[in-house]
Amino acid sequence: MDKKYLIGNWKMYKTIEEATFFMQHLLPQLEAIDSGSLALCIAPAFVHLPAIRTLLNGSTFIQLAAQNCHHEPEGAFTGEVSAAMLADIGVGSVLIGHSERRVYQKEDHLLLGKKVKRVLEQGMQPFLCCGESLKDRRNGRHKAVVQQQIEESLDGITEIEKVGIAYEPVWAIGTGEVASLEVIEAMHSFIKEILWHQYGSKNVPILYGGSCNPQNAKAIFNCPNVAGGLIGGASLRVDDFMKIVTALLEQKDGTNCN
Ligand code: PGA
Repeated sequence: MDKKYLIGNWKMYKTIEEATFFMQHLLPQLEAIDSGSLALCIAPAFVHLPAIRTLLNGSTFIQLAAQNCHHEPEGAFTGEVSAAMLADIGVGSVLIGHSERRVYQKEDHLLLGKKVKRVLEQGMQPFLCCGESLKDRRNGRHKAVVQQQIEESLDGITEIEKVGIAYEPVWAIGTGEVASLEVIEAMHSFIKEILWHQYGSKNVPILYGGSCNPQNAKAIFNCPNVAGGLIGGASLRVDDFMKIVTALLEQKDGTNCN
């Protein structure tokens, strides 16, 4: 069975008390299941990473992920966090180019490409987020936009199989408007083609993100080219997150997207 991925993106939510409560309730539930080939990550705010690592107490059920890093190895960049700092405290993967950062921090493909390289240099897995706006989709430019995001940000990357992709249509993030299974599968197989033609790999995991919740997760994960999920809102509640974990574990290989 292929490896599956689930990343809880906590964004700028949770106090340390709330984060601790979440982990203390999630961990016993995870211990009760056979997580098998599942790579489960939580991406809290930077400031909570060390505390969560302590709570994990060596448990391998959950890996630490970060929501971002700086594109330079080190330097006079007040308020920033480097990839090396993240690796140093046990972070295993880093989200790169989430649409909220592309929009609010004006991160572009070239900057994101540097971040991808920094993360790989530190032995962590970058998850490059891509996805079109509603305007791009209405204009029929969704494939061109996603292709450009991927090709420019992965330009010159040789360790392609250490990279993950998260397809997150911007119009589906935090809106409750999940993409249809047809839209998801069509874009995931398009991304797969890009990765095959440009980088010669069929082994890059492609996660779906955008209003994934306990009700729709199972159907989304059953799409053949969906390797897991990047979960925002529904990763903030233990019960919802556990239901999504269960949905991913029940995913069938080689099923049709219906
Ligand atoms: P959402 O967010 O699940 O709340 O739509 C997903 C994300 O932004 O990664």
